[in-house]
Amino acid sequence: MQTGPPASEPAIAARLRAAGCVFAEEEARLLVGVARTPADLNRVVDERVAGVPVEQLVGWVPFCGLQIVVDRGVFVPRRRTELLVRESVGLARRVDGPVVVDLCCGSGAVGAAIAAALPSVELHAVDIDPVAVRCASRNLAGAGASVYEGDLDAPLPVGLAGHVDVLVANAPYVPSGDIDLLPPEARLHESRAALDGGTDGLDLVRRVAAAALRWLAPGGHVLVETGERQAEQVAATFVRHRLLPRVARDDEVDATVVVGLREGVCPTRRRARTGTRRRAVSRTDES
Ligand SMILES: C[S@@+](CC[C@H](N)C(=O)[O-])C[C@H]1O[C@@H](n2cnc3c(N)ncnc32)[C@H](O)[C@@H]1O
Repeated sequence: MQTGPPASEPAIAARLRAAGCVFAEEEARLLVGVARTPADLNRVVDERVAGVPVEQLVGWVPFCGLQIVVDRGVFVPRRRTELLVRESVGLARRVDGPVVVDLCCGSGAVGAAIAAALPSVELHAVDIDPVAVRCASRNLAGAGASVYEGDLDAPLPVGLAGHVDVLVANAPYVPSGDIDLLPPEARLHESRAALDGGTDGLDLVRRVAAAALRWLAPGGHVLVETGERQAEQVAATFVRHRLLPRVARDDEVDATVVVGLREGVCPTRRRARTGTRRRAVSRTDES
């Protein structure tokens, strides 16, 4: 443990670089900015050197142009997951007042970014980890979202069945045998439940696929993030669950998303009818 007078920013950067932090200067600046006292600064630098993710020390991470609060132990949203958001927003915006469910929501970053892009969204988010649920509740407070604690889709209100336009899930997808290969930031400071997807990494993804048809509206979509090598297998799983698959890829950030369509009446047409009813209600309200 570092003791004595507070170190200068360049000295902190040198210590972080020696500990293997690639963005040492930027991290040093962030840690100096977040520490309230010299003792506090020494403590956070020690923790960073020990592998605590800088985002958990600083308390937030930039994601899709937002500042997402990240509490200790909660999965840090990755930049690659912005593809999942882009694909979800593109599909949800076809519908007037879309219903979106974010399963395995973690900090709630995906739902928060979708809600920021589509303020008319009705958003439901679920995570099994109470710490993540508390964190998501903070990040989603402004979106008027409902946040539930529980196993996958179990806590969703039954009334949502058949009405979800976009079911999105960044579920854990690392094969159990690869967990030890992850950097310490993930391996030691994010919960195993946030990372471990079982033997082939796809245990949770298969469950999402199996549940999708029950929740999706006709014409609705399910979207999951996977590894590039898992995409084909996930697409085949979607087919088995009567979902028409498509794979989206962003090489720049090494992101893969498998999208599944529940075929049926186009949601735009369905919503157009609902929208008429809604407008009639608001006219009644105004009169
Ligand atoms: C890879 S993290 C993704 C978090 C967030 N969606 C994101 O992209 O930042 C996976 C999340 O799934 C949650 N999780 C794992 N198993 C779950 C289950 N059976 N039901 C609900 N959530 C689960 C974990 O607690 C963790 O927050």
